Amino acid sequence: MEKVIVFDTTLRDGEQAAGASLNFQEKLEIAKQLDKLGVDVIEAGFPMSSPGDFEAVCLIARELRRPTICALASANVEAIDKAWEAVKEAEHPRIHVFISASDIHLAHQLKKSRDEILKMAQEMVARAKNYLDDVEFSPMDASRADPAYIYQILEAVIKAGATTVNIPDTVGYATPQEFGALIQGILDNVPNIDKAVVSVHCHDDLGLAVANSLEAVRVGARQIECTINGIGERAGNASLEEIVMALKTRQDIFNLTTSIDTTQIYRTSRLVSELTGFPIQPNKAIVGANAFRHQSGIHQDGVLKKAITYEIIDPKSVGIPSSALVLSKLSGRHAFKERLSELGYTLSEEALNRAFQGFKKLADKKKEITDRDIESLIAEELRTITEVYHLDHVEVSCGDHSLPTATVRLIGPNGQSLADAALGTGPVDAVYKAINRIVGIPNKLTEFTVKSVTEGIDAIGEVLIRIESEGVTYTGRGASTDIIVASAKAYMNALNRLLASKAGKKGES
Ligand code: KIV
Ligand code: ZN
Repeated sequence: MEKVIVFDTTLRDGEQAAGASLNFQEKLEIAKQLDKLGVDVIEAGFPMSSPGDFEAVCLIARELRRPTICALASANVEAIDKAWEAVKEAEHPRIHVFISASDIHLAHQLKKSRDEILKMAQEMVARAKNYLDDVEFSPMDASRADPAYIYQILEAVIKAGATTVNIPDTVGYATPQEFGALIQGILDNVPNIDKAVVSVHCHDDLGLAVANSLEAVRVGARQIECTINGIGERAGNASLEEIVMALKTRQDIFNLTTSIDTTQIYRTSRLVSELTGFPIQPNKAIVGANAFRHQSGIHQDGVLKKAITYEIIDPKSVGIPSSALVLSKLSGRHAFKERLSELGYTLSEEALNRAFQGFKKLADKKKEITDRDIESLIAEELRTITEVYHLDHVEVSCGDHSLPTATVRLIGPNGQSLADAALGTGPVDAVYKAINRIVGIPNKLTEFTVKSVTEGIDAIGEVLIRIESEGVTYTGRGASTDIIVASAKAYMNALNRLLASKAGKKGES
């Protein structure tokens, strides 16, 4: 069977999603998991876009040896040189050069002629080729461009050394039939197309990203660009897990394979969701909470008799853990560590000790600890951030006849104990105001969600928030059986990320 190259752009296009913000350690954590998942190419970032992106690409290029590490570059000298600087230490580096190719973009954004763009594309691919062999080129907005011009530009960049030509449906405008015809046209009309891999990059504005990508491989594309959970610019990108499972489940149609270890899908999906702060909708294909739940009596009856009646995918094949109860307060550190490794987590000794303490505290309050509880505990450890302020104590008084009041105590940057109190419109508002009185960093709360991790009155409550400061969004996550404590933790998490990012910027300047 022929293989389709899986190019993951969670750390580049995925991170472009409004409200996603990942620090270096989190990007590295995701990159390591993508490596375990078996993706062929990791697009680690767009080094020219920010010093943070540059550093993250350098780090991933240094740390990961197996996959190809790709850096995105717009078609200009500085961006290409910067991309090379960032990936040059990778075992398998790639530079991905892009430039707009549709008349809409040329006329309204770049204000350049087709000939000028063609020359820039050719020259910049040649510049990248001076640095390395593996060069990818994308004519942006290809699906709204004149196909004849796309053929021309692709022929030119392949002559200049491009080894992969990627066809983006940048605004998610194409339909499967149309997009398949575009790929077929490229295969038929670009004379030197056999010298490059044809790749596709589809956005989901019309909900067609996966369908368009699959149609493209059906007609002959051999690389798919996609993201975990389909996150990305606007409505997102084609979802990796959906594409991979469609290729696997419908091998009868596609007769194609990938190098993905599908049992790592669920774990990767959870990690990306936890670290980006984007929850997964329950009905999301492959990884949603309801994806393998059967509600109707007829369906349940069928599945009990033979799973194949209503299940086209075995949940175990995508690594969904069983919902069986696993641990209780009698479980020791060894059992806890074992379960973590079964779930795919390897923590440092220090992080393991902290997580185990958290587990013990939780087991005192909650009789039955499920895999989801454990995932929630671990998510705290994974949201790596050096705390400037640590939440030491939070207490609220509220009710229908009292003014919500909160007292908080934080441990400050020099280990000092800092306490304050505030009134609010509700208990969470009071807690946040009391914290603000101590930390004193202006910001706006833009999102607040609370959800329970498992069923039952003693469930862990998970709070996810987003705050904005000077136009930048920071996410915060907190979990506890007490949702006020979870809210306080989430706010401290977001504030500490804000403070760490500001400290980093000061360091850079
Ligand atoms: O959507 C797009 O066109 C892109 C390119 C940079 C490939 O993300
Ligand atoms: Zn894109």
